[in-house]
Amino acid sequence: MLHRLKLGVLLQWLILFLLSPVYEASSLGLTVHVVPLEENGGKTVRAHFSVITPSPCPDLLAVCAAREDCQAHRTALPFSYTKPSPAWCVRQWQKTLPSNYNTFLKLGFQTEFYVSIKADPKIRANNGKLNRPPFVALPPPLRASVNCPADFHISTKDLDGDNVRCRFARADTGECRDCFPHNFLELDEASCTLTFTGKAAAGQYFIYLMAEDLIPSPPTRQILYNSPLSSVPVHLSLTVEESASGCSSNPLALDGTPERDSVQFVLPFQEVKFNANYKSDLESVLEIAVVGPPDLYRVGFVSISNLAKLTMAWIRSENNLTQLLPVCFVANTKSFQSGLQCVWLYQREIRTLPDGTELRCNQTEMSLLLPVTSLTNVDLDELQLNSPTCPVTHNSTHLTAHIPLGGCGTKAVHSGTELVYTNTLKSVHHTMISRRPSLILPLACRIPGAQVKGPQYAVGMPTERETFGEVMVWLEFHLPGQGPMARLTSTPRFRSNFLSSRRFRRDTGSESSTSNSSTQTGLHVEEKVKQLDLYVMSNCSVDRAEMIVTECMESETEDFTDSHPIMEKGCMMSNNTLEIITEHKTSKIYRLDINTMAVSGTKMYIECKINLCIATMPSDTCPDLCSNSSSSSMLIDSVFTSTYSIRSGPVSLMVATGPNPSQTATMPGTTPPASQIPNVTSTNPNTNTNTTASQGVAPEVATSRITGVILMTIAMFLQMAILQ
Ligand SMILES: *[C@@H]1O[C@H](CO)[C@@H](O)[C@H](O)[C@H]1NC(C)=O
Ligand SMILES: *[C@@H]1O[C@H](CO)[C@@H](O)[C@H](O)[C@H]1NC(C)=O
Ligand SMILES: *[C@@H]1O[C@H](CO)[C@@H](O)[C@H](O)[C@H]1NC(C)=O
Ligand SMILES: *[C@@H]1O[C@H](CO)[C@@H](O)[C@H](O)[C@H]1NC(C)=O
Ligand SMILES: *[C@@H]1O[C@H](CO)[C@@H](O)[C@H](O)[C@H]1NC(C)=O
Ligand SMILES: *[C@@H]1O[C@H](CO)[C@@H](O)[C@H](O)[C@H]1NC(C)=O
Ligand SMILES: *[C@@H]1O[C@H](CO)[C@@H](O)[C@H](O)[C@H]1NC(C)=O
Ligand SMILES: *[C@@H]1O[C@H](CO)[C@@H](O)[C@H](O)[C@H]1NC(C)=O
Ligand SMILES: *[C@@H]1O[C@H](CO)[C@@H](O)[C@H](O)[C@H]1NC(C)=O
Repeated sequence: MLHRLKLGVLLQWLILFLLSPVYEASSLGLTVHVVPLEENGGKTVRAHFSVITPSPCPDLLAVCAAREDCQAHRTALPFSYTKPSPAWCVRQWQKTLPSNYNTFLKLGFQTEFYVSIKADPKIRANNGKLNRPPFVALPPPLRASVNCPADFHISTKDLDGDNVRCRFARADTGECRDCFPHNFLELDEASCTLTFTGKAAAGQYFIYLMAEDLIPSPPTRQILYNSPLSSVPVHLSLTVEESASGCSSNPLALDGTPERDSVQFVLPFQEVKFNANYKSDLESVLEIAVVGPPDLYRVGFVSISNLAKLTMAWIRSENNLTQLLPVCFVANTKSFQSGLQCVWLYQREIRTLPDGTELRCNQTEMSLLLPVTSLTNVDLDELQLNSPTCPVTHNSTHLTAHIPLGGCGTKAVHSGTELVYTNTLKSVHHTMISRRPSLILPLACRIPGAQVKGPQYAVGMPTERETFGEVMVWLEFHLPGQGPMARLTSTPRFRSNFLSSRRFRRDTGSESSTSNSSTQTGLHVEEKVKQLDLYVMSNCSVDRAEMIVTECMESETEDFTDSHPIMEKGCMMSNNTLEIITEHKTSKIYRLDINTMAVSGTKMYIECKINLCIATMPSDTCPDLCSNSSSSSMLIDSVFTSTYSIRSGPVSLMVATGPNPSQTATMPGTTPPASQIPNVTSTNPNTNTNTTASQGVAPEVATSRITGVILMTIAMFLQMAILQ
């Protein structure tokens, strides 16, 4: 009896134990890219895992057990972002597994997930090769708002050209555990699009899908059930948030962002680079969250007012990654997320070179010798280097080219610790339609980087310091008609960037006469200033650089607990604040009307946020954030510094009026008399920045030991659509 009771308790305990999950969280997203291994007829596969876990980022120690054929992708540039909160990050690794595989995987202490892979070897009838399971691009954690319907298109590709279908994973066939359908989600299986109906309570939901590849069937036979060649797991998460501000305020992708699901071909050592550009009218973009291959560079994030952009770059070096590499990104604001965009990088296959090919590298040039007899049908006269003006010579047996490392369009890129110089010899068809084969021959000289340190190079992007110089930004305050630009501020011309955009007070008129009268009373008494000129200064001397002031606020306390905006998103908050037009593009002057500002005391503090910008197109200007006329191209075609916040010290609003008003002017470096107004606050952007812009090191080639590594690959292919 006692025995039976004990057993009952034990059973109960066991059941409880089984029911309560040991680990708190599921993954926030998972894909597995499965590549069958030829060695044993596809009975084993190389599985490339990408998993999104809540922060803190778990270490990768646990994913590869001892003696396992496994590689963890430790990257110096982890994908880690903040929205939805708490923050999250991506972990990637690859290991060899049986082609049919079901298991629980653990990552860190928080994340456990169940994966089920069905990729039994199947020989394809069309080419006699092993079938390759489909690829699914892992999106950043999805976000939506309560009562706001949304579509999430999950991007898929198949190297064999099969159709890819997504469906909900089924618990009864062992594809998932503790998974159940959500009634607020619909799935279009053929296009792999999830539709959120909006009818869900706020919370985080996990979605378990399987992606399957099917041999495309003729339209007439579509009704018949077509059984999949393989099934791979896709886990997603959807965070539904309460929204106070309606449904239609998601950031929108602008021109210059790669097309959805587009494919970019990458040759060995080639660098691919693309931008993501967004416009967000209601809330500014906090981050452009990206999930992509290890060592995808993300540089130059700027979010200025309602515009945001990020540059992504990837260099193909020797790698063990899959042939297709998805990059997915979204723009997150505090409460919204843009539509999901994915781009695929395709590592183009390379053929072996003709015997006798030689590429020699030395300190100054690479020289190519290419036997041409095997290159039948390639028109040698059509071959060009990056720069078409560089000579490529050939005779009946050989093609030769001497390519300077500093010319001919040769590019230098940092890859890991190497400095790699690349150029490409390729066919440029003179006629639009050509049935001749194209030759593409990537050439690379690799210089082991003894002096090249760390992976934090801003690849191919000049750094902020290189572009804008060593720049200092600071604030100054002067009475109207005084200070370094007294000439301008005594008879100012004004520009109104007031929110309503109404133009007013185009000319000086009463403004300057008021200021004259207040400073020329001749009385030696202290009185409160009526107007004050705020100078936002920089010593950037780069031609065509412009300053953009996005925000300024005033507070009577140093900590800005109670502050009043003067300017937001580049627009004045009141028609009493005017910009004084100057010819100096890298500084701005604003006339503050102290009387109408909500300052009751005798001092105030000012904080402004600024960026410097250079329009890269000669005819362009940097965007005028306050005007709706700025086109997205102004954002895309401009380079920006990161955003700098400059805060003033206390600015006294009492002034000793007198016949010698020039005393009140303070230049940087001079000591103002005590009790004077101006306080100059300067900020060196390069030490004050907390943005993601990387600081690069200019390549130093001359001193390096060039070991003359010869690396060469050849690709010959007929022009054809490889992937749509
Ligand atoms: C590729 O994998 C092999 C075997 O696991 C390993 O030895 C090699 O270092 C890897 N190469 C790279 C570039 O990660
Ligand atoms: C590199 O090689 C070219 C010829 O192949 C030669 O003219 C040049 O002087 C060499 N430069 C150096 C620094 O050795
Ligand atoms: C063609 O040029 C190569 C390299 O300059 C040379 O070695 C070869 O002898 C030349 N062949 C003929 C047939 O002129
Ligand atoms: C700007 O000022 C900083 C600090 O004084 C200085 O280091 C820098 O060289 C100056 N830049 C220019 C372009 O004058
Ligand atoms: C204002 O003062 C400036 C110089 O301080 C002077 O040149 C100008 O004539 C004055 N304007 C008026 C309207 O008094
Ligand atoms: C500024 O705006 C207020 C209200 O919008 C208006 O009453 C006032 O006349 C404006 N002032 C000027 C100088 O345009
Ligand atoms: C710019 O457009 C947005 C909506 O597109 C509107 O809300 C805003 O008021 C406009 N701003 C100006 C200055 O006209
Ligand atoms: C400006 O204010 C700061 C902070 O209060 C102070 O340390 C600094 O000395 C002031 N500078 C001038 C030029 O008055
Ligand atoms: C970046 O700077 C802003 C303003 O100076 C500050 O509020 C924020 O906490 C900083 N972020 C980081 C990551 O240091």
